[in-house]
Amino acid sequence: MSSPREKTVALRTERIKRARGKTPATPEPGFPATRLRRNRRSDWSRRLVRETTLSADDLIWPIFVIEGKNQRSQVASMPGVERLSIDLAVKAAETAAELKLPAVALFPYTDPSLRDEEASEALNPNNLVCRAVRAIKGEVGDIGVICDVALDPYTSHGHDGLLIEGEVDNDRTVEVLVRQALNQAEAGCDILAPSDMMDGRIGAIREALETNGFTNTQLLAYAAKYASAFYGPFRDAVGSGAMLRGDKLTYQMDPANAEEALREVGQDIAEGADMVMVKPGLPYLDIVRRVKDAFHVPTFVYQTSGEYAMIVAAAERGWIDRERVILESLMAFKRAGADAILTYFAIEAAQLLSEGR
Ligand code: PBG
Repeated sequence: MSSPREKTVALRTERIKRARGKTPATPEPGFPATRLRRNRRSDWSRRLVRETTLSADDLIWPIFVIEGKNQRSQVASMPGVERLSIDLAVKAAETAAELKLPAVALFPYTDPSLRDEEASEALNPNNLVCRAVRAIKGEVGDIGVICDVALDPYTSHGHDGLLIEGEVDNDRTVEVLVRQALNQAEAGCDILAPSDMMDGRIGAIREALETNGFTNTQLLAYAAKYASAFYGPFRDAVGSGAMLRGDKLTYQMDPANAEEALREVGQDIAEGADMVMVKPGLPYLDIVRRVKDAFHVPTFVYQTSGEYAMIVAAAERGWIDRERVILESLMAFKRAGADAILTYFAIEAAQLLSEGR
């Protein structure tokens, strides 16, 4: 029989090895020496052993932008989310900055009359999103501005790329995405977030940014973006849903695949992404964890419009506790390895956290 002291040493050695990933989890001494409830008895103790933290620094707030002055319009499928005219978006960004949110992500609702087959409005230096970027960067202090790079707000068919003979053409789309990216960088966008899932776009955009003097513009690649049914309310919000011809299965990922997500992420990092994103969120936490473990780069996750709608709808019916579910879902992203979360709950969550929740 080994002495208690030897047992302790053996246990500690085992823990260290396990932490290094050399051996699988080993049994603890067992009950009653181990009573896992001991550490959970009081709030101070739970705080002391907590493995994951959540703060406003982790949250990015997506804002939908519309034309006009002092205009707001409800997104029907996202109760509590409004599209805002630029002046109100500036105020919203100020609120976000006061709550210490590091960044906002802007999504324009483009007037249907401006949408065409070529997505030409995406290249207009005075388009809605470029004006919104300039206004926020000009008027709000310390806050980052993120813009999607993708053509779906601008195409008459609702696809993220150009349709050539009925197919979304990869290489012709990338050419336009590069010009869209430069247009948004020129407007002052801090982080460009290609959400289109074309092959090779990160490399092409990075090269164009370098050669045009935008060496500090960050790229957040929607690297593992799935062809998901959770984007429905978003497409209502930007008005692309009703227009969408067909589906996005030829460019967004098959929800059945995980290995492929690692290839997507690996490519985007190799091509010059500063951060990568997994999308949707809660149903894809396994992907978040695998990406973080495999690449050790800033890994973001998008709590999508459909996830927002589900939580809000269930809470409205009194079936779940809204505030607790919001914070629990955000904590889950952090626990899975996410460094930041795009969430429509960003303002509410930051308020809750500032109240010590
Ligand atoms: C556009 C884009 C989408 C989302 C972010 N950027 C929709 C899509 O790809 O169809 C989804 C966001 C959400 O559902 O909250 N490429």
